[in-house]
Amino acid sequence: MDKATIRDFANVKGKRVFLRSDLNVSQDKDGNITDDTRIRASLDTIRYLVDKGARVILCSHLGRPKTKADTQYTLKPVHERLCELLPNVKVLMAPDCIGSEVEKMVSELGDGQILLLENIRFYAEEPENDPAFAKKLSQLADYYVNDAFGVSHRAHASLEGITKYLPSVAGFLMEKEIKILGEAISNPRRPLTVIIGGKKVSDKIGVIDGLLKVANTILIGGGLGYTFAKAAGGEVGDSIVDEESIEYCKQVVKEAKKLGVTLVTSLDSVIADGFSNDAHTMIVQTTKIPAGWEGLDIGEKTIDEFKKHIAKSGTIIWCGPLGVFEMEKFANGTKQIANAILESGAVTIIGGGDSVAAVTKFGLASKFTLVSTGGGASLEFLEGKKFASVEALLGKNVKIS
Ligand code: 3PG
Repeated sequence: MDKATIRDFANVKGKRVFLRSDLNVSQDKDGNITDDTRIRASLDTIRYLVDKGARVILCSHLGRPKTKADTQYTLKPVHERLCELLPNVKVLMAPDCIGSEVEKMVSELGDGQILLLENIRFYAEEPENDPAFAKKLSQLADYYVNDAFGVSHRAHASLEGITKYLPSVAGFLMEKEIKILGEAISNPRRPLTVIIGGKKVSDKIGVIDGLLKVANTILIGGGLGYTFAKAAGGEVGDSIVDEESIEYCKQVVKEAKKLGVTLVTSLDSVIADGFSNDAHTMIVQTTKIPAGWEGLDIGEKTIDEFKKHIAKSGTIIWCGPLGVFEMEKFANGTKQIANAILESGAVTIIGGGDSVAAVTKFGLASKFTLVSTGGGASLEFLEGKKFASVEALLGKNVKIS
């Protein structure tokens, strides 16, 4: 990564550091955190700054509130979790993210202490990247750190606007994500195998286009497999099909041939006579699914074929589950492929929210080289997009004093 990081701070003791993290965790209907991965993933940077004696002003969004009145989006549950995870650190919570009360709390903050600001998206000025709002935020601090890879594809005030007013560097999580994802697409250990699943082709067009240019092999399964099967002239019964993407799928097949990329689409499928764990099932060719039946998982032939390519890979990027893994009956393909990826010895990267949820459910997440904390961000990064929030950070080899 060609950006300065928190290691480049000459001395942050006593300095006010505005740390933007992505603490946008999933919650149940009562506000309880159901997955704290993003909080845990942010701890290395937080601990580093605390240990160096910085006064950390921690900022995040949670969900997509429109105004402060959407109180269910408060960061209070995140504050509680942070206090549990950092028992020896004083972690305070502000009632807002700007204003005189926040300024007072910042001025009273001690070295090595943390002040968590309230949800930054309580202000419409945040997504609007309002310059006056960004300036107000910047006035709370001496330095700015962006560790929020998961939301770095948004040029919001606390992500891009603020960098105009403060010396700005990356945190450890940002550095890790960009380094591993960046290397995977610019200089991968080859062969580079890309596995793409999920529900709809249209959600993955950008990532397929981007990765077609760099991959040696692309394996397509999950819901996408049925649109590709239909594009090939197959019968897919009641399986999910993205009608508007059929022409696109035909183009992908042609383009892969032209570029010398091996493209394998799902050969056989576990089909069901209903979308339920109790449905009757059978395995058929993916291009021969009868009416009244829908494909909900990849079949054994597909699994074997995918495994052959996975086993000889140097790098594997996986975006999107290969079946309806949330139902035990249709989790087999996704589970077997997850294990095959881990046995391959390759650099293993998981991007996109749903495949992350799958490996987390199987208890395998910690075994991959990188399970990206970015859903949309990792997909856009893999498309090859540049993020304004990251571009705006200082370049490498500066000492920030
Ligand atoms: C995410 O959950 O993908 C990030 O936190 C970004 O959230 P957003 O899509 O609401 O901007």
